[in-house]
Amino acid sequence: MTNPLQLAVHPGAFPSTELARVRDAFTRRTVPPGLHYQGACQAARWRALYDAWSPFSRVPDYVKMFERCFEAACDRISSEVTIVGLGCGTAAKDVKLIDHLVKAAKQIHFVPVDVSVPLVCEAALAAGERLGAKCVYPMVANLEAADDLGEWLSTQSPGTSGRLFTFFSMLPNFPPGAILPTIAGWLRSQDFLLLSVNLAPGPELMSGMANVLPQYDNPETHSWLFTFLEQGGVRPEDGVLRFAAEPFGDSAEVGRIVARWRFHRACRLHVLADVYEFEPDEELELFYSWRYRSQTFPATLEEQGFKIEESWLAANGEEAIYLCRTLGGR
Ligand SMILES: C[S@@+](CC[C@H](N)C(=O)[O-])C[C@H]1O[C@@H](n2cnc3c(N)ncnc32)[C@H](O)[C@@H]1O
Repeated sequence: MTNPLQLAVHPGAFPSTELARVRDAFTRRTVPPGLHYQGACQAARWRALYDAWSPFSRVPDYVKMFERCFEAACDRISSEVTIVGLGCGTAAKDVKLIDHLVKAAKQIHFVPVDVSVPLVCEAALAAGERLGAKCVYPMVANLEAADDLGEWLSTQSPGTSGRLFTFFSMLPNFPPGAILPTIAGWLRSQDFLLLSVNLAPGPELMSGMANVLPQYDNPETHSWLFTFLEQGGVRPEDGVLRFAAEPFGDSAEVGRIVARWRFHRACRLHVLADVYEFEPDEELELFYSWRYRSQTFPATLEEQGFKIEESWLAANGEEAIYLCRTLGGR
C-alpha cells in the first residue's frame, strides 16, 4: 500500500486568505495567475499544454542548456543540499536536477513548493521515487503571500547548511519588481538560486513579443484558460478570448503577453464563494506573462539583490537561466 503524502500548508494559502486575494483581484477584473492551476481539471489541462509546448524536454538546445546549468549547480554543492522548488509545478525540471545530483552522489532533500495541491502532490511523488518519501517535504504556499517563507522553510524542512532554490518559468507570473526582492530575502549567504527568465528575442522588444505569441495563442492554452470560465458557468459562445503583446508603460525592456476574455452578452461568473456580473463588451483579464530582454535582465537581477555567478542563453534567445547568490546574505 502507498503511504499518504504529508503536505504542509502555509497560512498564505489558507482558503480564507485565498478568497480575500481573489476578491481583491476581481475589483480590477483580473484573475490571479495561481488560480489557473489549482483545480484537478486545470492542473491536468496545464500538464497537457506543458507536454505540447514546453521546449524544456523537446528542443535539443534547451535540453543542453538545462543540463549545463544543473552541472554548474552540482559543482558548487558540497555533499548535502536542500533543493527548494519555488512554483515547482510537476517538478519536471527539479527532478532532472535531482537526477544529476544523485548521480554525483550528493545527499538531497527536496522541498516542492507550489500553490496547486494537485501539482505539488505530483512533484512530491516524482521526487519521492528518486529520494524516498522521507527526504521530500511538500509545501502548499502562495508566493505572493509568503514573506515569511524563509523562516518557515527553516522550521518545516531539514536544516542543511546549503540550499539551492529553483525558480523556473515563474517570473512571467509576477509583475516586475514584485517577487525578486522577496526571494533575495529568503536566501542565506551560502544558498544558491537557479532562475529562468522568459525573453523577447531579437533586436527589439515588441517584435520579439510578436514572435513568441503563437506559444500562447494556441488551442491547448485556450482550453486550459477557458477551464476557469467553464467552471464558473461561462460557455464558449458567451464571448471570445484574445491574446495581445503589450509594452510595460514606456519601457523598451519589459512587456507582457495578455489574454482577455470579452463577453458578448451579459453573464454571471461564479468564482469561489462569489458571483460576478459582466455586461456585454466587458473584459476580464484572464492571463498574463511577463517577458524581459536578455541585454538588460542581468542588471535587473543585480538591482533586486542578486549576484550572478553564471548564465546560459537559449540559441533562439527566448529563455535564459541564471545561477545566483544573494548580495545581502544572512
Ligand atoms: C509555468 S508553471 C512552472 C512550473 C515549473 N517551475 C516548471 O518550470 O516546469 C507555473 C507554476 O507556478 C505555480 N504558481 C503560480 N502562481 C503561484 C503563486 N503565487 N505561488 C505559488 N505557486 C504559484 C503554478 O501552480 C504552476 O505550478
